[in-house]
Amino acid sequence: MTTVLTSAPAVVRTVRELRERLRDYRAKAGADATVGLVPTMGFLHEGHASLIRRSAAENGLTVLSIFVNPLQFGPNEDFERYPRDEARDLAIAADAGAQLVFMPEVRDMYPTPPSTKIIVGGITERLCGASRPGHFDGVGVVVTKLFNLVQPGRAYFGLKDAQQVAVVSTIVADLNQPVEIVPCPIVREADGLAMSSRNVYLKPEEREQALILSRTLRQVPAWVREGATPESLKANMTASIAGMPLAEIDYAEVLTYPDLQPPAEGEALRHVPVPLLAAVAVKFGQTRLIDNVLLNPNEVN
Ligand code: PAF
Repeated sequence: MTTVLTSAPAVVRTVRELRERLRDYRAKAGADATVGLVPTMGFLHEGHASLIRRSAAENGLTVLSIFVNPLQFGPNEDFERYPRDEARDLAIAADAGAQLVFMPEVRDMYPTPPSTKIIVGGITERLCGASRPGHFDGVGVVVTKLFNLVQPGRAYFGLKDAQQVAVVSTIVADLNQPVEIVPCPIVREADGLAMSSRNVYLKPEEREQALILSRTLRQVPAWVREGATPESLKANMTASIAGMPLAEIDYAEVLTYPDLQPPAEGEALRHVPVPLLAAVAVKFGQTRLIDNVLLNPNEVN
């Protein structure tokens, strides 16, 4: 058996301390300095750990940010009850190889309510952008602030939030932010449930029924191969999920990726020459879960 020795990351809670630590690192590392950023809202799981490990493998310094960003929650959403566990997060961060953890208070990130807005048009009109008005505006502001503070060469995001990856990539391209966005694969529990900090809210029966999301998405490549059109694929996904009595479907969609446009009606999806995103958002009780599969049409034919 090998023993893995992990050292505790430095924890900074203010913008000033963060900047000092980064300045020290860059002064020591000189031209070899490479900084990776993993932005999170904490309550870390294996999905986050995989992002941290990837960053640690590719950069001299990995900065993990943990900040439950009030700007991206709607008035009736779960900002207040969003799960938090600092000690557990720091243990996971250390084990995965983060060297610096930035955990600011709201008053540090937003000393005054920000007047500046980052609104990405087009790709936010569907999926979670439509269901959660203002959500991506809040993500845009916090991610841009984190990029400005940390100035990472690379930033790591999970593809469970595929629309978020598309939105952040658009902001980076539109504003010439000097950071490479690294999309990373969805990490699942052994039974297929996509890992999410919100899974902790699920009651046992809800969690059992939530497995229908990954089961449904696993069938998507076969449906596409068999000739599904956008309409029939959405109907198949909806019927499959609706078989679970506790499932309250927000959306079951198929769009081109990353521009998030509806494919032509009536056209067999296997002939669409660009990647497709089949995405679902479903509530089980009080818990809204999202999941998706990205399809490369060449791979399904
Ligand atoms: O994906 C998340 O956890 C959040 O949206 C992010 C990117 C950390 C911004 O608050």
